[in-house]
Amino acid sequence: MLEMAKSPLRPSARSNVPPFMVMDVVAAAARLEAKGRRIIHMEVGQPAAGAAATAIAAVRAALSSGPHGYTEALGIASLRRRIARAYSDWHGLDIDPGRIVVTTGSSAGFMLAFLAAFEAGDRVAVALPGYPPYRHILSALNCEPVFIETTAATRWSLTDELLLAEHRVRPLQGVVVGSPANPTGTMLPAPALAALIKCAQDAGIVVISDEIYHGLDYAFAAESAARLSGDAIIINSFSKYFCMTGWRIGWMVVPPPLLRPIERLQQNLAISVPTLSQIAAEAAFDGRAELEKVKQGYEENRRILLAGLPRAGLTSFLPADGAFYLYADISRFSTDSFEFATRMLEEAGVAATPGVDFDPLRGRNFLRLCYAGAPQDMHEAVERIGKWLRQVA
Ligand SMILES: Cc1ncc(COP(=O)(O)O)c(C=O)c1O
Repeated sequence: MLEMAKSPLRPSARSNVPPFMVMDVVAAAARLEAKGRRIIHMEVGQPAAGAAATAIAAVRAALSSGPHGYTEALGIASLRRRIARAYSDWHGLDIDPGRIVVTTGSSAGFMLAFLAAFEAGDRVAVALPGYPPYRHILSALNCEPVFIETTAATRWSLTDELLLAEHRVRPLQGVVVGSPANPTGTMLPAPALAALIKCAQDAGIVVISDEIYHGLDYAFAAESAARLSGDAIIINSFSKYFCMTGWRIGWMVVPPPLLRPIERLQQNLAISVPTLSQIAAEAAFDGRAELEKVKQGYEENRRILLAGLPRAGLTSFLPADGAFYLYADISRFSTDSFEFATRMLEEAGVAATPGVDFDPLRGRNFLRLCYAGAPQDMHEAVERIGKWLRQVA
């Protein structure tokens, strides 16, 4: 009999990133649905709508005319030109298509940006509350995510003062800025974003601007870091405004010194981005009318929740400037948002994300509600939450 060799398999320390707790809520919701319960889904941050008809039609046409081999590592040239043109349409900016890099969702954009701009051990500031993969990707790449707690006073955004205070403690090499932000939905007004970028760059800190929720702004227009600095790395995606989460396609606007390094990384890490998704993405720009209707639906949902949640008992939430999230303070009812979300799911049939996913400490007092679903679901969610809170209060 063969003697069993001692297994060399040991998970690396850097693979030890925390799980996303919302996935436990997703699994629990699926179990309840399997038993016949109707659940209102406000937990996962993705549009209920699918890709624009123009994108689907382009893929259907392409399917009959293969082969669909690899593309250039930086993306199909016509798509890169189309993305560059969008900066002129949306922001009046003239961006060289050569600076556009097509990526496998913005998630891959972060990996490319962090690998190209930072060394192992570099310190990169991220806001708390904030999108968890920023910090988890950084630590998987052996960079050090540096948490900066934000407050209501600054619309829950990073500021130049907060950044410099941390930089003085120990120098930072980078900062990730997100506006509109996940989970709060808050936005940085243009002057505040400009001040933050200027102060970061004066201090030698590389700015990475996550603009994935651009196009979904309600309170005021979102500013692109591309207008404010040629040195900022811009990350964007077709996932949110374009309703294409599962197509896994996004893009970056890259400062020239990092272009060739990012091209080499992409060649080696991915070869290229899925060809059909690139074809769909280019055609998605012609579906703006359809996508604007979807956005109007979010605006309606936002109105329903802003008016309805206080009546239901959730009286305190952060300014819902953009994206499709509302970050509600639940501390009147509980200081354990995971337990609160679990009970709300089981007893009221509304699935939401516990704040601890976004802010390990203060997130115990918060719940993120995603309003990318149908307006009738928002009305029903308000009813259900109100009835349930009256019972538990
Ligand atoms: C703030 C933020 N950035 C990036 C992503 C990643 O999106 P994708 O990889 O689908 O482009 C998400 C997804 O929810 C997000 O909320």
